[in-house]
Amino acid sequence: MKTINIGIIGYGTVGTGVTKILLENRHLIEKKTGTRLHLKYIADIDLVTDRKVKLEEGVLIGNADTILNDPEIHIIVETVGGDTFAKDLLLKAIEKGKHIVTANKALLAKHGDLIFENALKKNVTIGFEASVGGCMPVIKTLRESLVGNAINAMLGILNGTCNYILSKISCDKTPFAAALKEAQMNGYAEADPTFDIEGIDTAHKLAILVSIAYGAPINFKDIYVEGISKISPLDIEIAEQFGYRIKLLAISKWREEMIEARVHPTMIPMSNLLSGVNGSLNAIEIQGNAVGSMALYGHGAGMMPTASAIISDITDIVRDMVSGAAARVPALGFQREHIRPIPIMPISDIDTFYYIRFSAIDKPGVLSSISGILGNHNISIRSVHQKGQNQKGAVPIVMMTYMARESNIQAALSEISDLHIIEGEPVLIRVEESGPSKSALS
Ligand code: HSE
Repeated sequence: MKTINIGIIGYGTVGTGVTKILLENRHLIEKKTGTRLHLKYIADIDLVTDRKVKLEEGVLIGNADTILNDPEIHIIVETVGGDTFAKDLLLKAIEKGKHIVTANKALLAKHGDLIFENALKKNVTIGFEASVGGCMPVIKTLRESLVGNAINAMLGILNGTCNYILSKISCDKTPFAAALKEAQMNGYAEADPTFDIEGIDTAHKLAILVSIAYGAPINFKDIYVEGISKISPLDIEIAEQFGYRIKLLAISKWREEMIEARVHPTMIPMSNLLSGVNGSLNAIEIQGNAVGSMALYGHGAGMMPTASAIISDITDIVRDMVSGAAARVPALGFQREHIRPIPIMPISDIDTFYYIRFSAIDKPGVLSSISGILGNHNISIRSVHQKGQNQKGAVPIVMMTYMARESNIQAALSEISDLHIIEGEPVLIRVEESGPSKSALS
């Protein structure tokens, strides 16, 4: 039986998961690939923490260079994270002709084009299924299963930490900070959880998916990003009373030679399939012009789901190596000469539905002042709700709009904020009425 040697760099949560699968499911993988996957080295600066894995003597080492310089290592698994050390590491590994598997979405969102370009020149494969959606095979689905489709839209819950926090607030009334702490303890959150809660991690993932879906260079910087840190339990509660859930969504829509690509808290109807995706689970709906709507669902973060996706990439590379077909599937799904820049639409140009909550002094004429300004900006109101009464102070006034242009909404809100009857900043949450309904798929 042929042996393929593997080196893991980074023995943290994900590196430990990959090690466990390689050791515990060794025979199963051999039966499926006809190849022996030999974990030769794991490099990490921490050689003392007990990961509860029994390694052979000499496997755990302190220096990644040993792996880079070992001509017997065929595949390097990078689970270090970050975009400085990991970038140098990957570029050096490619230079040495090693295939790479990584879950590093931050790195790929920033430097993916350079990494893929170098890999193509050296005829090595970069596997990055684990970078988006944990165990969900979303990259394989876009690049391979849906190869015959033009992708019209993608709507996804792609950050386990945010979904965990929003679900905990909504289902158990857990405070934000406590829910974040739990997510960190469960190993879902990034080293810097700001990346999770401010939507940056989701945007990294969306940048990768958009590139594969439409054949464009990775463009993270033009994606509109808004996180969940300003979402209050009050808005979650009101949304539920109205029959909606608030989720941090990654949204991309094909707009004829432009792409909508945005990440923000989004109200979706309870009837939408994505509204029932809770905890650290991720899900994505993909609309293709041949398949219509399809969805993937699974654990998007944590040790074993992420490790499972990494093993899938390793075995793809192993099968290619064994059959002599290296880099069979292009990294971004399209042949290199067909990858071309596609502009991302500015958020001001999108049209969608909106939820707006004002804190307004409770007196006659308030509603007409607000609705007058909205009307002047071509915004049509679907419904208005006042929560309670308060003769002496402010009350929440909630409005749902029909489809409106974002630039009009922003102009109207800035005018309304200046009214003396309004306290604080209005809350704005975009509403997505499209999407797969639970009943359509049952
Ligand atoms: N911090 C990420 C999340 C890890 O919570 O989804 C998986 O990419």
